[in-house]
Amino acid sequence: LASIEVEIGDIPEGTSKTFEWRGKPVFVRHRTAEEIAREKAVVVSELRDPQQDSERVQKEEWSVLIGVCTHLGCVPIAGAGDFGGYYCPCHGSHYDASGRIRKGPAPLNLEVPAYKFKDENTLVVG
Ligand code: FES
Repeated sequence: LASIEVEIGDIPEGTSKTFEWRGKPVFVRHRTAEEIAREKAVVVSELRDPQQDSERVQKEEWSVLIGVCTHLGCVPIAGAGDFGGYYCPCHGSHYDASGRIRKGPAPLNLEVPAYKFKDENTLVVG
């Protein structure tokens, strides 16, 4: 299926932007040094869906996620929740800035789509 090319150079640190790919929202987050450090420090064995942050990103500054809650498919809110990542208001799932489920009913981390960096400012999703 078609891939999309997105400009990421204008996404300030500490914020995310939502794009649409295959009818689904994709969250692209420009992470701060503090967020990166926090996600790397998480004790993975305590997670419901244990994954290192490094398994979920290609470049530490950028987190790319499918914005569909793994509980029942609502779209989480970026930059919200108890773990500095995403919050799904439908039934209260909290994800961290790596998109990992930390609290609430969702069983799995937010999915990471296939993507690659075309250059510094351009991402290709799909
Ligand atoms: Fe997100 Fe239920 S759909 S918490």
